[in-house]
Amino acid sequence: MIEYRTLRIALLGAGTVGAQVAKLLLEGGDELGARVGARLELVGIAVRDLDAKRTVDLPRELLTTDAERLVLGADIVVELLGGIEPAKTLILKALNSGADVITGNKALLAEHGPELFDAAEQVGAQLYYEAAVGAAIPIIRPLRESLAGDRIQRIFGIVNGSTNFILDRMTEHGATKDEAMKLAFELGYLEADPTLDVDGYDAAQKVAILAGLAFHTAVPLSAVYREGIGDVTPEVVERARSLGYVVKLLGICERVTTADGLEGVSARVYPALVPQQHPLTAVHGGNNAVFVQAEAAGDLMFYGAGAGGLQTASAVLGDVVSAARRHIAGGPGVGESTHAKLPLLGIESARTRYLITLRVADEPGVLATIASIFAEQGTSIETVQQTAAAGADAPTASLVIGTHHALEAALAATVEALRASSVVTDVASVLRIEGA
Ligand code: HSE
Repeated sequence: MIEYRTLRIALLGAGTVGAQVAKLLLEGGDELGARVGARLELVGIAVRDLDAKRTVDLPRELLTTDAERLVLGADIVVELLGGIEPAKTLILKALNSGADVITGNKALLAEHGPELFDAAEQVGAQLYYEAAVGAAIPIIRPLRESLAGDRIQRIFGIVNGSTNFILDRMTEHGATKDEAMKLAFELGYLEADPTLDVDGYDAAQKVAILAGLAFHTAVPLSAVYREGIGDVTPEVVERARSLGYVVKLLGICERVTTADGLEGVSARVYPALVPQQHPLTAVHGGNNAVFVQAEAAGDLMFYGAGAGGLQTASAVLGDVVSAARRHIAGGPGVGESTHAKLPLLGIESARTRYLITLRVADEPGVLATIASIFAEQGTSIETVQQTAAAGADAPTASLVIGTHHALEAALAATVEALRASSVVTDVASVLRIEGA
């Protein structure tokens, strides 16, 4: 009989993901331990309320409200509390006591990642966070390890499962946003505070983490331009469909070279129109898909469940196994590099495409006036569709204008000039086009 060393695992949080991690560890810990040659023992689960209703029945004797004490006696700490505090203090305590830490806390990493990575490096411990982005999808490890020798140009895709679920229900089932949100909540996709999902914060946190890793630069959440799905109504979804597009909330980070030849990082989150034939439109429900464009590797696509307790628990357990292997093998942890220190560029430096829907007076010279507004701002029109609008007193037309790629600053200035123009009755919608 082989005598395995025992590794003590402390779990902080027994919410949607934490409860599933506890269940999987209790049921399959021996098998996971055998894979690394250790005995993995879940020594305790820190919770706020011992009597709270949980999705999984957990052994009462493992529950404790004394998170600090639990952390100090552990080899591996799994933090699934979410939020900044007490998560940050507990993680720092765990690292400083020599434990490796696994976290799915994207908010904390997006705000304080560099500080936590430094703390881990100083004591030779390791911070793992595969569950922070894309739930079940392996994306952190591929960027950190598999693609570590390549040069990433662009990452873009769907990184928030609940808003994808909501937009998908609106697109495929004609649901209202409220109906779709209710279902997303029941499936455990939404954050405890759903505005984090709906307003794009969750996606922005993930983009900050991905951008930091991909471009070896500290990218704080404040550097990620963000728009949520608040303005995406069933009418917007339907108009997009009639024009051959699907509305998706996208997260994008890329290397951008400015007009002055300066290379920087553009990071942004917004709902965008994706052409119906693009693979992203086949990403339904709570799934995520992340495209990575790397100089040597070319285009890669990572796809799978982007939300859900059990799915996210899979990523956490992968990190538990990695941490256990590291403990057995010994040696210091490896921190994240931020050596490139690329400038963080605002949205105005991004090159995007707009699809603008206008209502205009249907009179001679109107189209010429509109075209001149685009020309004055240096933005090039790619497509124009005009339909006569019914029901108005004077003849009016609806114009849908698609642009070529242009600097966001020029496109935004164009829309401003259109709004100010006397021939434009209404700028009905402005959406960016991505993936075309
Ligand atoms: N609320 C998140 C989402 C859960 O919808 O993607 C996974 O991070």
